[in-house]
Amino acid sequence: MQIIEHVKQLQLQTDTWRQQGLRIGFVPTMGNLHDGHLALVKRAVEVSDRVVVSIFVNPLQFDQAGDLAAYPRTLEQDLAKLKSVKVDVVFTPDEQQLYPLGRESITRVEVPRLSGLLEGAARPGHFSGVTTVVAKLFHCVQPHVAIFGEKDFQQLLLVRRMVADLNMPIEILAQPTEREADGLAMSSRNSRLTEAQRQQAAYIYSMLNVVRQQLDQADMSFVAVERMAEKMLVKQGFNPDYVAIREVDTLAEPEVQTGVGRRELVILVAARLGDVRLIDNLRVDLM
Ligand code: PAJ
Repeated sequence: MQIIEHVKQLQLQTDTWRQQGLRIGFVPTMGNLHDGHLALVKRAVEVSDRVVVSIFVNPLQFDQAGDLAAYPRTLEQDLAKLKSVKVDVVFTPDEQQLYPLGRESITRVEVPRLSGLLEGAARPGHFSGVTTVVAKLFHCVQPHVAIFGEKDFQQLLLVRRMVADLNMPIEILAQPTEREADGLAMSSRNSRLTEAQRQQAAYIYSMLNVVRQQLDQADMSFVAVERMAEKMLVKQGFNPDYVAIREVDTLAEPEVQTGVGRRELVILVAARLGDVRLIDNLRVDLM
């Protein structure tokens, strides 16, 4: 496993692979790797000949400087985990490598509308930072295929839209959310929960399943179901930002506001436990 810090060196390596006709798979991360990240990497290993994983805590996507400073950096452990899953290159640029001309007046990639909904409304500027860095990383790595987690469902849709709009010749694969035994979606943030909060946190997934059942069975309006779900969360000690039932491809509010007819929806949730903000989602295919 090679560790590369410089963009030029990485591009030389991936150019060579391309000339040899090898298929390059890419998994972008911010490090502090857990089994959710590793599931993406294993998928990349399955579907490509060479695998690049990037580790870069991207300052452009943090709306609060405190969050950026507090983000866990665990490079040694991360490298050990990546070694065990057959990664060819770990790309670990520093800020100078990716933003040599500074961040202030950088060219940005923005997906309007979709980037302003839900997570985008809660964290202004966040998704512009994500799409900009992902576009840059794509140019550094030049992958044939890139893997993103469904855990960050809106991020996945934004990347797909960016790739389509800008004709990037990259296949985007979605990896299902990896969960703890009690259903809690794996996340770097889980380690910031107290033991009691960690127990409570599993309730998010139970709530999502209750909502899915409601949609399958009842003809309550979606808005009524969303409010019911938020109340359930409050009762269990959460401070919910939103529970939203949306169209799976666009995150638009469904036109028909009940579960009648065939449709593909996703239930998205963001809620705080203490000062830890957790997100999760569950797809519902109504027949
Ligand atoms: P990060 O939070 O490190 O996540 C990297 C990738 O791992 C994302 O595609 C995310 O959806 C996926 N992931 C996280 N937890 C997961 C889980 N429990 N199951 C499956 N996949 C999971 O997302 C980012 O970094 C950044 O925004 C990035 C795309 C790297 C741009 O900076």
